[in-house]
Amino acid sequence: MWGLEHVKTDPTEAMNAINAVAPTGVLKGAKMPGGAGEYGDHAPVAVMLADLVEGILVKNVDATAKAVENAVRNGNGLKDLPKEGKYPSTINGEESPFASLLAYKARPLNGIWATAPYLHNGAVPTLYDLLLPEEERPQTFTVGRMEFDPVKVGFVHAADDAQAPFVYDTTLPGNLNTGHNFTSKLTEDERWALVEYLKTL
Ligand code: HEM
Repeated sequence: MWGLEHVKTDPTEAMNAINAVAPTGVLKGAKMPGGAGEYGDHAPVAVMLADLVEGILVKNVDATAKAVENAVRNGNGLKDLPKEGKYPSTINGEESPFASLLAYKARPLNGIWATAPYLHNGAVPTLYDLLLPEEERPQTFTVGRMEFDPVKVGFVHAADDAQAPFVYDTTLPGNLNTGHNFTSKLTEDERWALVEYLKTL
């Protein structure tokens, strides 16, 4: 896991997880966690979700203990760190239990050739484009064609293509193709060599 400040990809999805507010429904009038009073008509989704999950675990404490015991016995690493990675711990400089939501996973890249478009928001059409400096990546591209591009590795696309049903515009909020600029300094030869390597995973 890498915090937004490191990976610098579009923050919208992560921010939504923190900022989303929803009607409380059956929770209305129940006690909020941490002595924060009672639930009103609306509450942050992250608070309700954490509260419900904790409630279920506490209510089923025997089953929870057994699940943890099994996981440890099976070597799932629970006795070490339940969360590994570079998670942020603060939001706007203040400690927050929800800050760790402001991070994206550097997932294993097995089969990455088959999962274009790339990044969590699908903002980059091919592996080659992802390895380019962020400002050189396509600003708009068509999605919806199933023809595979084995050179750049992704789906065949164009800035505008009458055969493709949808144009992805990376300038819209949530669609940004910024960040993950780690390979921007590579030479073109190195970039193409890396594309070939990624094909083998
Ligand atoms: C040669 C260097 C690298 C290559 C080839 C590479 C490749 C990739 C690819 C192909 C993805 C897209 C995965 C997908 O769409 O499912 C990705 C995502 C990601 N990588 Fe890397 N990566 C490299 C370096 C790094 C480094 C140095 C970091 C951390 C410091 C990192 C962190 C991440 C994260 C957090 C994501 C998810 C970002 C998001 O979806 O918003 N990567 N990487």
